[in-house]
Amino acid sequence: MKPVNVGICGLGTVGAGTFNVLQRNLDDIARRAGRPVKITHVSAREVNSECDLTGIKFSNDIFEVAKDPEVNILVELIGGTTVAKELVLAAIENNKDVVTANKALIATHGNEIFEAAEAKDVVVAYEAAVAGGIPIIKAIREGLVANKISSVVGIINGTTNYILTEMSEKGRDFADVLKEAQELGYAEADPTFDVEGIDAAHKLTILAANAFGVPLQFDKVFTEGITNMTTADVKHAEELGYRIKHLGITRRTAEGVELRVHPTLIPEKRLIANVDGVLNAVLVMGDAVGPTMYYGAGAGSEATASAVIADIVDIARDIDSPGLVPHLGFSVETKNLPVLNADD
Ligand code: HSE
Repeated sequence: MKPVNVGICGLGTVGAGTFNVLQRNLDDIARRAGRPVKITHVSAREVNSECDLTGIKFSNDIFEVAKDPEVNILVELIGGTTVAKELVLAAIENNKDVVTANKALIATHGNEIFEAAEAKDVVVAYEAAVAGGIPIIKAIREGLVANKISSVVGIINGTTNYILTEMSEKGRDFADVLKEAQELGYAEADPTFDVEGIDAAHKLTILAANAFGVPLQFDKVFTEGITNMTTADVKHAEELGYRIKHLGITRRTAEGVELRVHPTLIPEKRLIANVDGVLNAVLVMGDAVGPTMYYGAGAGSEATASAVIADIVDIARDIDSPGLVPHLGFSVETKNLPVLNADD
């Protein structure tokens, strides 16, 4: 079977994880994809010593990957929204499928990107953009396809959950734990995205679009972070039988779709109150299946790589039959549902 050629842009935490997991599990991945999956081109500002690039083309200019006629799937792992958007649009223009872990890019420019992809009949897949290694996009889009979903509620930022957990369990100081989360590669390049709730708002925007078929509307999310939380707040909540968790909440109501991200008091007996550390958990309520919960590593190099590679394999399976991997579909029924926010 003809191999599918992958070009990886970015060799940071997730880029290096994707490179190494793909190389390590090459045989299993090829068997599951039904064809060899070959990394043929890598681009980054500099070579990462954790990655053995022997025999693989390397460019400093990421746009070389978008132009490379041998590359079938461009994997965007550079982060940010300006150059990343140009890169993804250039890849689409050159008829390449795209895999990205970039939640900021999808949440803020996804509507335009999916329109461009649809015009060219290529796929833009983004499983790794939400909840790290948890296959939550596939769960909503495929496993729960029969359901009318009424709500999606989750701990969708690993860094804030790690900070709140350390404050609770060890009484540690906010700034000290944040520094550690950065060193462990959990936090965003700009950690205010984590602690101010912006990263969770990006992910919630994507979850709502998938669950309810509404367009991506990041600007409509009510967003509050955890920067005002103190160890004393966390301790007082616990004395009253609650845990404080930073949640993303989206619900379908008669008036429209509600989108909000904020710290929440949760009774300590609830399953989600006991999801600790960098772990994420997402609770999806479907009319047929009832409540379902998905749990796992929400950040980190190889956990996120696991989701990136799942998308690569999905595309590799159907590379000769374009259109089989669904685009982010907007159903006619819900396309114009209004989105409620805190100002309504
Ligand atoms: N900074 C993000 C988090 C990385 O902590 O959840 C994964 O999206």
